[in-house]
Amino acid sequence: MMNKPNQSPMTAASLKSDVSGRVEALLERMSLDEKIGQLTQAGGADWVAGPNIEDVIRKGGAGSVLWLNDTRRFNELQKVAVEESPSGIPLLFALDVIHGYRTIFPVPLAMAASWDPAVAEQAQAVAAGEARAAGIHWTFGPMLDIARDARWGRIVEGAGEDPYLGAAMAAAQVRGFQGDDLADPERVLACAKHFAGYGASEGGRDYDPVYLSESQLRNVYFPPFLAAVKAGAKTFMSAYMDLNDVPASGSRWLLRDVLREEWGFEGFVVSDAFAVGSLEIQGHARDPRDAARRALKAGLNVDMASSTYLGNLSKLVEDGSLSETEIDELVRPILATKIQMGLFERPYVDETLLEQVVARPEQRQAARLAAQRSMVLLRNEGGLLPLAKDQQNIAVIGPLADSKVATEGSWMVFGHKPAAITVLEGIRARLPGATITYAPGPEIHRDIPHPFGEFDLIEKKPIQTSEDAEAAFQTALETAQGADLVILVLGENADMSGEFASRGSLDLPGRQEELLKAISAMGKPVVLVLLNGRPLSINWAAENVPAILEAWEPGTEGGHAVADVLFGDVNPGGKLPVCFPRSGSHAPLYYARTLTHLPESSPRYQSRYWDSPTTPLYPFGYGLSYTTFAITDLALSASPISVGQTVNVTVSVTNTGPMAGDEVVQLYIHQQWGSDSRPMRELKGFRRVTLQPGETQPVQFTLGPDELRYWSTNAQGWVQDAAAFDIWVGADSLASLHAELKVVQ
Ligand code: BGC
Repeated sequence: MMNKPNQSPMTAASLKSDVSGRVEALLERMSLDEKIGQLTQAGGADWVAGPNIEDVIRKGGAGSVLWLNDTRRFNELQKVAVEESPSGIPLLFALDVIHGYRTIFPVPLAMAASWDPAVAEQAQAVAAGEARAAGIHWTFGPMLDIARDARWGRIVEGAGEDPYLGAAMAAAQVRGFQGDDLADPERVLACAKHFAGYGASEGGRDYDPVYLSESQLRNVYFPPFLAAVKAGAKTFMSAYMDLNDVPASGSRWLLRDVLREEWGFEGFVVSDAFAVGSLEIQGHARDPRDAARRALKAGLNVDMASSTYLGNLSKLVEDGSLSETEIDELVRPILATKIQMGLFERPYVDETLLEQVVARPEQRQAARLAAQRSMVLLRNEGGLLPLAKDQQNIAVIGPLADSKVATEGSWMVFGHKPAAITVLEGIRARLPGATITYAPGPEIHRDIPHPFGEFDLIEKKPIQTSEDAEAAFQTALETAQGADLVILVLGENADMSGEFASRGSLDLPGRQEELLKAISAMGKPVVLVLLNGRPLSINWAAENVPAILEAWEPGTEGGHAVADVLFGDVNPGGKLPVCFPRSGSHAPLYYARTLTHLPESSPRYQSRYWDSPTTPLYPFGYGLSYTTFAITDLALSASPISVGQTVNVTVSVTNTGPMAGDEVVQLYIHQQWGSDSRPMRELKGFRRVTLQPGETQPVQFTLGPDELRYWSTNAQGWVQDAAAFDIWVGADSLASLHAELKVVQ
């Protein structure tokens, strides 16, 4: 409803009552079947929609449609909903827009490596603008699952292992996707997923059960979700797997007690794909009718794609197992959202809009900046990087060096045509006068094909024979032999991380390490650029390859951004959002463990294994720069403080090296005793600062009740103990600059 110019602006309260008035008026005229339709999300792709999707919509049998990415078709289906369905309620079109729609940004794990929430916010704002111009109203992102097991393929979709960094990235992405006004025609609804605990699947095996204590959930796995609620996320997605033996999509505790009652969430929850129907397969529901009843009672609003609500809810109301009031309660937030988005007034999309939006130069500039800021310099012995710009003869080698798919990474929207600048293209563009030779070496592929291959998300080629692979290996060696400098681009293909892409080993797949060793043996300078969506146990490279740049899956502008960093136009400043284990068998591995009675810091007990150190190859928060920094002068504004009070923690950070650069100053705490044992380190503050050579800046953090309290198993609730705290500030999770804070009653 628009204000006339001479009217005073509507207050938030009057807008709210106007929206709820419209919702109630709609509910009054809707049949039970139409209400159930609003709780139903229909699959729009051919493989799931069937021929009758129009009929379903015409009857009011769907409130939203997913897995369709076709602007013209959106308008066609919307017309059926608006003009032919009984109450004319517009549809929401939903799609996974995870790190870009047409302009692809670095994967979310990479964006977390920027330690710069503004990067993630801007990326998702750009993604939202393109997706909305294509006719999409609702993305299934951000993914907020804390992942401490690098074998789990979906680690690529989240912000890594840490709840504090994860919460900052969660809020930023929600703001980016959704903005602060649901009526904004350049934004989409955000969806915080997968609620909750999915990242802790046993053994890192996708979909497997999760067992997490309430303290792990509340202290580690929930904070990004709570941050999403606070940032205004309008929708949530319930996870597939069993959490402590209850499927998350049937968990009343998660969906009602925690999400709505404790956190005050007022939006709506969609199941993960087919998850309502799966309650039967998972051994929770007796049959589909029981599954529908359980999910609805748990507070799950929208059934994604399984049609279990559509087929069963009305019978459940008829036989008295459910009341229409219970249905109304779950329909309300969906109708309210459609009203707030202005869909009743503007249901259609201008079919020419997308091309105008993607043509804006700022889209690609934002993607390049995000890729630059996400990269992490892992090694730079002897200052090999940055490379001189007058290089004449470079070999670029590796199966990913010219792969657009690997450069864009996992999770493309349906029908997306890979268009990234590859690393090879980026280097060629940067040094137009030089000789840049290229050889891919042997291809890499999954041993077990991706089951989603048929949905056309992944490029399909026949697998190389071992003879062809050997020939490619030899060609790569010859190509390297003829160059003065070799840049190897190795890692994982896009289908090696993401959903259904877990693996037992974290080694470089295929013959990549063999190739790396053979080329390194030539004695030429070698730079390793990694393209990957998860930590890799690159133990040999970490000892033997002088320069290693973690470029992740950097997106459309990835190749340019890699060249920007390699040739020193950009000084890398990213930091690892997850530790790199030395082996897949060490997972789960993360920095915020508790001390135990034999801390690994004591010389005799450094490793939990007798065959290798259990420390990570690269710790959480780690990353180098082309310059050096000193972090000094750690000071607390007060100590002791009383429980409930706040203290300021300050340090100075100085660029002590030769060029401008970024440092991410990180604050960690450890509570020395208390109601429960607390992690040996926990991140509680960070700031990415840019400094000119010789420049010093003060950095200040605050520690108050929010940072110092935790959910205690012993107390069965939130506590803030009177205790002593170690405070460390530094450049990674091994920071040694220390102070002690005392907190008294
Ligand atoms: C994934 C979700 C995704 C959904 C819809 C599921 O398989 O787990 O993350 O949003 O499909 O595509």
